[in-house]
Amino acid sequence: MAERLRILRASDLDGTLDMRDVLALIERAFAERGLGRTEMPPKSYLHFPSHQGVLLIMPGNLPQLEQAAVKLINVHTRNPVEHGLPTLIATVVLISPETGEPLCIMDGTYVTGMRTGAVSGVATKYLARKDARVLGIVGAGFQGPFQLDAVRHSMAVDEVLVADLVLERARKLAERARGFGLKARACETVEEVVRGCDVLVTATPSDHPIVKDDWVHEGMHINCVGTYAKGKQEIEGAILTRAMVVVDDWEQASHAGEINVPVTRGEFDRSGVYAELPQIVAGLKPGRTDDSAITVFDTTGLAIQDVVTAWQAFQVAKERNLGFIIDPLYT
Ligand SMILES: NC(=O)c1ccc[n+]([C@@H]2O[C@H](COP(=O)([O-])OP(=O)(O)OC[C@H]3O[C@@H](n4cnc5c(N)ncnc54)[C@H](O)[C@@H]3O)[C@@H](O)[C@H]2O)c1
Repeated sequence: MAERLRILRASDLDGTLDMRDVLALIERAFAERGLGRTEMPPKSYLHFPSHQGVLLIMPGNLPQLEQAAVKLINVHTRNPVEHGLPTLIATVVLISPETGEPLCIMDGTYVTGMRTGAVSGVATKYLARKDARVLGIVGAGFQGPFQLDAVRHSMAVDEVLVADLVLERARKLAERARGFGLKARACETVEEVVRGCDVLVTATPSDHPIVKDDWVHEGMHINCVGTYAKGKQEIEGAILTRAMVVVDDWEQASHAGEINVPVTRGEFDRSGVYAELPQIVAGLKPGRTDDSAITVFDTTGLAIQDVVTAWQAFQVAKERNLGFIIDPLYT
């Protein structure tokens, strides 16, 4: 029977997901990928140079879960100033594996925030020291709260340190952490955060390294979230050469992730990568085994993360009758 099409705006989705559920879903999706049971063609790009824009097309299919979707996400840097629009606008189309029908079209901003936070949480679970207590976050923009919410479930946090170019944003995120009952403070410098933490998240759009090798100590775990394009980099390349490096996907990471600049310069190659996170989650390789190791996780964001997160939001939306429903587009 033909399915009707559910439309979900950002305002319908906010608050539909519990981070603990999303952490479990991301772990499941990564296990599926590690076992070779996902389909995820490489991201495709459309370029709009005259508008300083790019559109990414991200398809993903998890046959064991009967879930498929395509995410469209752009980066148009002039949007806020020239058009009063966000830089990033994400849309997810959920596809029925059985019939190919689109079942739902949803705003993808919230899903992107939740799934990006959750993958740092999963990486922290497998790669951070068990006695890690201080969480550092550099970059307190849109991603900041999602990173905080996810990683706090994956380690026993005593204190949160936050830095941002805009100190007020760091203060706000620290306040949010205090709202979870955690000790937290905004720091004046990135150095203070890095030197003082056990687990670090970098979530800035910086195009040059803002984390210096000198500041990084033994036993630390770093989730590199911010780098999304060729030529960008948040941590000094020297850190990679003394760390156990884990990527979400070699192809994506070597082209557009934290490792892309050292790879392009010939300073780092695939032999320097310990594993892809899906291999660790699937149990094919161990996570951290040495308390003194520095671990670095380079995440570029996989379409399968969007698929499982968006499907969960869709289920909740159906239960709560959120959004609105229209006849199938082909009628
Ligand atoms: N890996 C993934 O899957 C994934 C997913 C979503 C977003 N991202 C990337 O994560 C980054 C952050 O995304 P967002 O949506 O939070 O962006 P945002 O613009 O909302 O926030 C970025 C924050 O970083 C701060 N910042 C910039 N440069 C800094 C510096 N040198 N030192 C300290 N703070 C600095 C800014 O002041 C801002 O508050 C972006 O580069 C984005 O493309 C990655």
